[in-house]
Amino acid sequence: MRGRDASASILRALRAADGFVSGENLSHELGVSRTAVWKHVKNLRDEGYGIDSRPNLGYRLQSEPDLLRPEEVLAVLTTRSFGRRMHYVRQTVSTNDLAREMALAGAPEGSIAVAEEQKSGRGRLARAWSSPKGGIWFSIVLRPKLPPSDLPKIMLASSVAVAEALKSLGAESSIKWPNDVLIGGKKVAGILSEMTSEPDRMDFVIVGIGINANASLSDFPHPLRSRITTLARELGGPIERNEFLAAVLARFELWYGKLIRGEWTDVGRRWKEMSQTIGSRVAITTVAGTVKGKAVDLDSHGALVVETQTGVVTVSSGDVQELRSG
Ligand code: BTN
Repeated sequence: MRGRDASASILRALRAADGFVSGENLSHELGVSRTAVWKHVKNLRDEGYGIDSRPNLGYRLQSEPDLLRPEEVLAVLTTRSFGRRMHYVRQTVSTNDLAREMALAGAPEGSIAVAEEQKSGRGRLARAWSSPKGGIWFSIVLRPKLPPSDLPKIMLASSVAVAEALKSLGAESSIKWPNDVLIGGKKVAGILSEMTSEPDRMDFVIVGIGINANASLSDFPHPLRSRITTLARELGGPIERNEFLAAVLARFELWYGKLIRGEWTDVGRRWKEMSQTIGSRVAITTVAGTVKGKAVDLDSHGALVVETQTGVVTVSSGDVQELRSG
């Protein structure tokens, strides 16, 4: 039995037991030596599991850390391919970099990179993305057979997935164009997509999703604290991150599947239902300048359609500020 499998089996046995499980029983059930059992217990303790051990009695599980262990995510995953291959690390620079390496090495569509903490997380428009422990920081490898101009659609589908997963937890959120997910006007999740493409087709896309789940506001830099929120704060306590990650993946697989099948209209309609930007007066900072007007629709590529004083403009990338009407 491989190391991680053995640790997972020990964990399962300890969870199922009502009290102590003897080292002998564990070694028998798993078909490994008692020394190996002891080593796996030590590894689990190093990962933060509270495991009591008593001579003649064996081991007993006392507490579990809040970790996104692949075994636990897989146990609740309902997808066909999204998240089925998972590269999990405690800490990394950015999961988008990990996922990119995976994609370059041939990882199939739906593979994900997950980290408990990012040291140099990236946000949209070359901003830093603070990623302390307790959040959900992950990136998914996609290989869509779509033209590069369809990238915004993928981003919109991913924000719908996050907003719908939040809804399933009882948290009402709204999407600010293109894909900031907010609760009560404060950002709880963000999405960064990075594409490698040929002129006429995408090679692969990395969609990086960051969700301020169980991290505490004090774990974020001061200037951010008034603008963001966390799920633990909004829901009155920590969430099951494994289940939430699985829920986001399930929603994303569904909406991405629709896109791939050419059902963009459904995706766009759902995004518009969940978005607070449509119908708002906006000022969008783009590389070409600021566009001011009323956001009225999405176009057939997922770009935002804005009615300005001088006519209708479509914007595919930028930073939106929603202005008070009037
Ligand atoms: C934004 O709103 O600016 C986008 C934030 C995207 C953050 C996620 S966290 C996982 C992945 N890795 C990164 O470095 N960024 C994305």
